[in-house]
Amino acid sequence: MSGLFISFEGIDGAGKSTHIAALAQALEAQGRAVTLTREPGGTPLAEALRTMVLNDAMDALTESLLVFAARRDHIVRVIAPALAQGKVVVCDRFTDATFAYQGAGREFDWAVLQQLEGWVQGGAPSPADSRGLLQPDLTLWFDLPASVAAQRLAGARVPDKFEAQPGAFFEKVSAGYARRHDEDPARFARIDANQSPDGVWQSVLTAVRNRGILR
Ligand code: TMP
Repeated sequence: MSGLFISFEGIDGAGKSTHIAALAQALEAQGRAVTLTREPGGTPLAEALRTMVLNDAMDALTESLLVFAARRDHIVRVIAPALAQGKVVVCDRFTDATFAYQGAGREFDWAVLQQLEGWVQGGAPSPADSRGLLQPDLTLWFDLPASVAAQRLAGARVPDKFEAQPGAFFEKVSAGYARRHDEDPARFARIDANQSPDGVWQSVLTAVRNRGILR
C-alpha cells in the first residue's frame, strides 16, 4: 500500500481535534498504519519551536521562518519516512496554516511564503504537486464563520498568542484558507464546521470515502 498524507485545517475553534482522532481510529480499524501528528510540532525540535511560536512575540518573518524550520524537521524525521513505509500520515495543520495565519492573518508576503514552501517541501518523492513539492493528498478544511469560532473558544481555556487575537484577525485567516483552496481546489475538501459534531463527522466520512480512503 502506498503512503497517504491527510491534513486538517481551519481557524482556532473550528473543532478539528475530535475528528482527527476519530479518523485515525477509523483508518486503523480498516487495517491502515497511522501516524498521527501535528504542526507546528511532531518532533522534539519542532515542539520546542512550537512553544516559542505560540508564546513569544516576534515579527511575521521570524514566525514564518520558525514554522517552516519546524516543518522541515517534521518532514525529514517523521512525515517522509512514514509515507515511505506506506503509512497514513494524519496531520493537524500543515503549510496551509502558514499561508492563512502568517500570510493572510499577519499580512506577510505570500510570495516569500511560496519560496519558503519550495525550499522546505521540495525534492519530495510523493505526494508531489505540480511544482514537485510535498503536499497532502487531501486537506480537510473545517470552515466556519470567525464569529462562531470565537463563541466556541470563549472561556474554553487560557488562550495562546493566536487564540487571543481579535475577530478581525480570524476573518483574515479564513480568507487565507479560502485563497489556498482556490489555488489548488482538487486537494481540498471543504467541511461545513458550523453544524453538530455528528454532522461534521458525517461530512468528514463522506469526504474520505469519496476519495476511496475509507470503505
Ligand atoms: P493548534 O495546535 O491549537 O491548532 O495551535 C496551533 C496554532 O499555531 C494555531 O493558532 C495556528 C498557528 N499556526 C501558525 O500560525 N502557523 C502555522 O504554520 C501553523 C502550522 C500553525
